[in-house]
Amino acid sequence: MAVLKIRKNPDPILRKKAKKVTDIDVSVQRLIDNMIETLDKASGVGLAANQVGVPLRVVIIHIPDKDVMVLINPEIIEKTGERLVVEGCLSIPGYQAELKRSESVRVKARDRQGKLFRKKATDLLAQAFEHEIDHLNGILYVDYLQDMNKLEKTDYGPD
Ligand code: CO
Repeated sequence: MAVLKIRKNPDPILRKKAKKVTDIDVSVQRLIDNMIETLDKASGVGLAANQVGVPLRVVIIHIPDKDVMVLINPEIIEKTGERLVVEGCLSIPGYQAELKRSESVRVKARDRQGKLFRKKATDLLAQAFEHEIDHLNGILYVDYLQDMNKLEKTDYGPD
């Protein structure tokens, strides 16, 4: 396993729409292992493959005290409600902002064995699903801010 370099905004790969995984082969398995290690090292909650320079629809989510989740070709199939959250991103270190996310999100994805699953989430997991699937579509959370003055500096985070 290896810790991969996390691409920072404005790296153009963060703006590319990632491609569907058609074959969960050895290289995808290796990518998943390396992304898990990279996310843990960065103490982040989620990581999308294009953040480590690979334009594929692969997401890792690790909510503190929960098991690591691997989502291949994830799709949001339902979202309800609205709430204010505070959000940051490993590709925009040192900043956070308040924005609106859904109250509840239902996602469909494949796991690393290729098995299709559905998962309904609220709270931080719902927020992570929306944030990471946005990454796969080339969207960053700052895109939702009407005003860049809404971006606050944080004194924690990598780099
Ligand atoms: Co992010």
